[in-house]
Amino acid sequence: MNNKILINFAHPRFETSIANKMMVSAIQNLEGVTFNDLYEEYPDFLIDIEREQKLLLEHDIIVFQHPLYWYSTPALLKEWQDLVLEAGFAYGNNGYQLENKCWLTAITVGGAYESYTESGYNSYPLEELLKPFEQTANFCGMRYLKPFAVYDVLRISREKMRDAAESYRKHIISLQSHLDLTSGSYS
Ligand SMILES: Cc1cc2nc3c(=O)[nH]c(=O)nc-3n(C[C@H](O)[C@H](O)[C@H](O)COP(=O)(O)O)c2cc1C
Repeated sequence: MNNKILINFAHPRFETSIANKMMVSAIQNLEGVTFNDLYEEYPDFLIDIEREQKLLLEHDIIVFQHPLYWYSTPALLKEWQDLVLEAGFAYGNNGYQLENKCWLTAITVGGAYESYTESGYNSYPLEELLKPFEQTANFCGMRYLKPFAVYDVLRISREKMRDAAESYRKHIISLQSHLDLTSGSYS
């Protein structure tokens, strides 16, 4: 297998980033991976819908990499979803053009894992908070993969963050070569 991977990356203040910067460095130049920096491409929020849809059609696995902002995505990625996943393309009559492609959310989280529990101060597991993305993927006939999450990024050491970035690189390579898109299973 040689799945083509598109990374739709959204970070409004990349110059201040530590976690995402390390993760981007780990995957940006991998063969078969297209890196699409949405804030770099659309600083004015004027998204080229045709370009984005073409990119989606050219790839098998769509990764949405971003920091968790207010239990969701940075604003431009929401704008991207609202405009690019439109009727007649992602769903509806003559739609479902993304059917069987995979959706992976790759996310950095300020809070610690323990805070994302019923008794923690964030009250809900991250998987629950990401349900709108899971259901968007389902609605479009895409396969929603288990999110890749790095917790506690505001506190963990550089060394641990480097390990997380390396795990991200390995995960992307493994999806590239071992995920069977027709069955959704790993070979
Ligand atoms: C506007 C904003 C909203 C945030 N919302 C959350 C949140 O809801 N939950 C959380 O755990 N961390 C939250 N954070 C922390 C970010 O997730 C964290 O700063 C980011 O993942 C760090 O990645 P970076 O080093 O690439 O910037 C927020 C940060 C900002 C600036």
